[in-house]
Amino acid sequence: MKTFIHPLGGVIATLCIATFFTSTVVVELIGSHDAIATVKGLIVMPGLFILIPAIAATGGTGFALGKGRKGRLSEAKKKRMPIIGANGVLVLLPAAIFLDQWASAGAFDTKFYLVQGLELIAGAVNLTLMGMNIRDGLKMTGRMRSKPKHLHTNRA
Ligand code: HEM
Repeated sequence: MKTFIHPLGGVIATLCIATFFTSTVVVELIGSHDAIATVKGLIVMPGLFILIPAIAATGGTGFALGKGRKGRLSEAKKKRMPIIGANGVLVLLPAAIFLDQWASAGAFDTKFYLVQGLELIAGAVNLTLMGMNIRDGLKMTGRMRSKPKHLHTNRA
């Protein structure tokens, strides 16, 4: 069960952050203030409602699966998870809530764009770390090769 929930939660959480990131950049570049407010609202509800349980389930099952496992890949994943969690709780979560409130009040001022910039940076950091955890997870289960092997091809 854990081996089923863990990668599923991980992929759902990563897709959520990728979707929030892309839709934010696109709507803020080409959308109206109303469109921005709509996207910021959707990120909070249902966005966070999907992301938070997905990331919690991924972390919980990850630590349970990784318990007692040594190894470079597992250690690296364990070290990344607290950074992903702290970034989420301390930056992404409050930023999403404040940006939604400010956007729906029409407050597109300096403070909005500063927090928006910070949110995009934290989102990119988490996307990178989560991508690395997916890659290392796939290596641990043998679905991805660790290092490219030498290919000995016979030329005719
Ligand atoms: C956002 C965080 C994480 C993501 C996105 C993620 C993603 C994945 C993925 C995609 C797999 C491959 C599963 C498969 O091929 O069936 C995997 C496996 C695994 N992950 Fe994670 N993971 C995360 C965090 C963690 C953490 C914190 C640990 C703790 C060490 C961990 C431990 C493991 C272990 C032990 C496996 C192998 C499970 C098995 O043998 O079936 N993961 N992970």
